[in-house]
Amino acid sequence: MTLTETTQLEQFIEAVETRTLRVGVIGLGYVGLPLVLLFEEQGFPVLGFDIDPEKTRALNDGKTYIRHIGEERIRKAFSSDKVEATTDFDRLGECDALIICVPTPLGPHREPDLKYIRITAEQIATRLRAGQLVVLESTTYPGTTREELLTRFEQTGASAGRTSSSRSPPSAKTRATSDSTPARSRKSSAASTRRRCARRRRCTARSSTPSSRSRRPRSRNRRSCSRTSSAPSTSPSSTR
Ligand SMILES: NC(=O)c1ccc[n+]([C@@H]2O[C@H](COP(=O)([O-])OP(=O)(O)OC[C@H]3O[C@@H](n4cnc5c(N)ncnc54)[C@H](O)[C@@H]3O)[C@@H](O)[C@H]2O)c1
Repeated sequence: MTLTETTQLEQFIEAVETRTLRVGVIGLGYVGLPLVLLFEEQGFPVLGFDIDPEKTRALNDGKTYIRHIGEERIRKAFSSDKVEATTDFDRLGECDALIICVPTPLGPHREPDLKYIRITAEQIATRLRAGQLVVLESTTYPGTTREELLTRFEQTGASAGRTSSSRSPPSAKTRATSDSTPARSRKSSAASTRRRCARRRRCTARSSTPSSRSRRPRSRNRRSCSRTSSAPSTSPSSTR
């Protein structure tokens, strides 16, 4: 991992911890809307994207269109300055993490129709910026992230979670979902993360007495744990 990538990862983790990380949820249906509310509850600024202007208007007016989600809950979330719904996909670049929750209806052979994922991938690809995390939440088969998202992102010169790449200018690095990373790169990155954590543990063991350990803020401990599981090439993902 280059110094720039390490710094980017540390900034990303810090933004999560300080709740300054801006989350973008694409597709505000049965999956996307509850996710917006969940992130809002946890204190994150959230931008919800949908192609349906009636939905984004309803949400910004504090109205619900999903029966089991009460209007009061929507009003509370969307009346705050931190949460907004929009049809303006140019604003994708404002988000540090993008979660794709668009439909994947089953086709005649019960295969998921990836049309909406492809449209979304194109939307993201033209606005992708360094350090963004992209997660595919829609139900699909393994490999979709690599084949449908990463392929399109790489055409713009971006590279996902790589330590280096001749094809990608430094400004076009993006964090990747785990199935979009070559196994060899995943392995070596995981190994280097383990080595860093082991070094940190050794330093901690040498330098801290039991009392100084108990004074260490809990968030710092959590941070080193989360690092183990969220090195750039093994960033969180959910590809179904
Ligand atoms: N509903 C569930 O209980 C459930 C459970 C697990 C997984 N899933 C999966 O999650 C995904 C989303 O399901 P859902 O039930 O939320 O669907 P939904 O139909 O309720 O919502 C999808 C939303 O995406 C919007 N949309 C469509 N194309 C878009 C685009 N290009 N850009 C932005 N927004 C777009 C639609 O207007 C709609 O508001 C699907 O892949 C589904 O299989 C759903």
